[in-house]
Parts: sequence; C-alpha cells; structure tokens
Amino acid sequence: MSVTTHQLIQWKQQRRSIVALTAYDYAIAQLIDLAGVDIILVGDSLAMPILGYETTLPLTLDEMLHHAKAVRRGVTEALIVVDLPFLTYQESVQQAMHSAGRVLKETGAQAVKLEGGYPAMIATILQLTSAGIPVMGHVGLTPQSVHQLGYKKQGKTVEAGERILQESIALQEAGAFAIVLEHIPADLGDRITQKLTIPTIGIGAGPHCDGQVLVTSDLLGLSEKQPPFAKAYANLRSTITQAVKDYSLEVREGKFPQ
Ligand code: KIV
Repeated sequence: MSVTTHQLIQWKQQRRSIVALTAYDYAIAQLIDLAGVDIILVGDSLAMPILGYETTLPLTLDEMLHHAKAVRRGVTEALIVVDLPFLTYQESVQQAMHSAGRVLKETGAQAVKLEGGYPAMIATILQLTSAGIPVMGHVGLTPQSVHQLGYKKQGKTVEAGERILQESIALQEAGAFAIVLEHIPADLGDRITQKLTIPTIGIGAGPHCDGQVLVTSDLLGLSEKQPPFAKAYANLRSTITQAVKDYSLEVREGKFPQ
C-alpha cells in the first residue's frame, strides 16, 4: 500500500516525522523509494540541477510530465507529488485544473504542489480539491517569484511572519493536505506547525516542522551550489569525477578492457 495524504495527517497527530525528497528520474526515484522515503516530490527544482536552467521559470509542463512519468515507474510506496511549473496554473482556475488534470491522468502521480497563498491560490485550491485533486501548498521563499523575492529568507519581521502564518491557515482552509515552508525562521516554522492540523514540510524552516524535504541533488552532493540550509550526506560530484578519471586512465593505458 502506498503512502496516502490521510496517512500524513495521522503521522502529524502521532508526531512521526515525515521524510520527503525530490526525484526527477526512474533510477533515483526507485532507490529513494526503496530506502523508505514517505513523499517523493517531482519538484520544479528539476529546472536547475538537472536541466541546467538559471531559475525554475523556463520549465514547461511537458518537461515536468516527461520526468514525472519516469519517477512514477520507479516508485511503489511513496506518495508522489508533482510541482506545477511557473505560469501553468497562475493565469486562471481553469488553467490550473487543466494542468493538474494532465499531471494526475498522464503520470499516475497522486498530488500536485503549487506556490503562493492568500488570496491568489485560494479559489484554485478550492476548485482542485473539490475535483478530487490533492494539493500541497508552498509558502515562505517561493522560487517561482525569484524576481520579486530573490532567494532570501522570508518572514523575518513580525508582520511578514504573520502574513505567512495567515497564508498557511488560508491554504489549509481551502483544502491543502500539507504545506511546504521554505527558508523562514525556525520559530515561525514552529508556530505555523503548531497552528495547523495539516502537516508542514520544512526546507530551511527549522527542526519543528512535521517533516523535512531536501533537493536530492543537494543531499547527494551533486549540485554546483547548495542553499545555506541544505546538507550533503554524500559527495557524488567527487565520486563521479574520480570514477571517470580512473576509467579514462585505464582506457588510455590499455588496462581496460583486459
Ligand atoms: O522544486 C522543489 O524541489 C521544491 C522543494 C524545494 C520543496 O519545491
């Protein structure tokens, strides 16, 4: 049985931390699913470490669908959530329905994630959830707004923190099943987590969230640049470079193949 959105809410009540990671292809999705991750996010971070874009903005829905289908083929247990790319849902509720519908129908993922809060996303989340499409919200630092926000920590003043708290409450009331809190002060992450009945999934939002998510390229040490809140648990950049150097040397010296 794969993880469900209802299970995530139960885990919050039981104070069992939720583990989430991104994946963009079959091989990594299969490995992290077998390793026991609860949520696999096909994040629009796909645009940067994997496709080499400067920001997440150029990513298209078709690119996202292509990668989400590969992830789906590798996963049996984790809940798969797919990000709606920039301007595939902000124009109108109808546009959001169309894009989210394509994600669920064409990839087999169970949920979508979208960035933004009150008032912009409320009607959209109400409509998607009433059509049976589970929605994960995302507030704080929202990378699709990089040209307004930069990549800076959000919610640092009392007023800004209050705005993010109120946005999170509005997203919950509109029907979101969980909310990503990105790059906000830890005490604000704690306050929002205590206030909501749905799980908060933090990334740079402190230790008190109901779960944590990392971009897998950061966790594996594959990214060229890491955000300050990420932690690398391996250094695949140097492992891969060394393996390629060893192979090249052996080919050039006639040692491989033997
Ligand atoms: O796109 C992504 O990987 C994300 C995470 C940073 C939460 O939205």
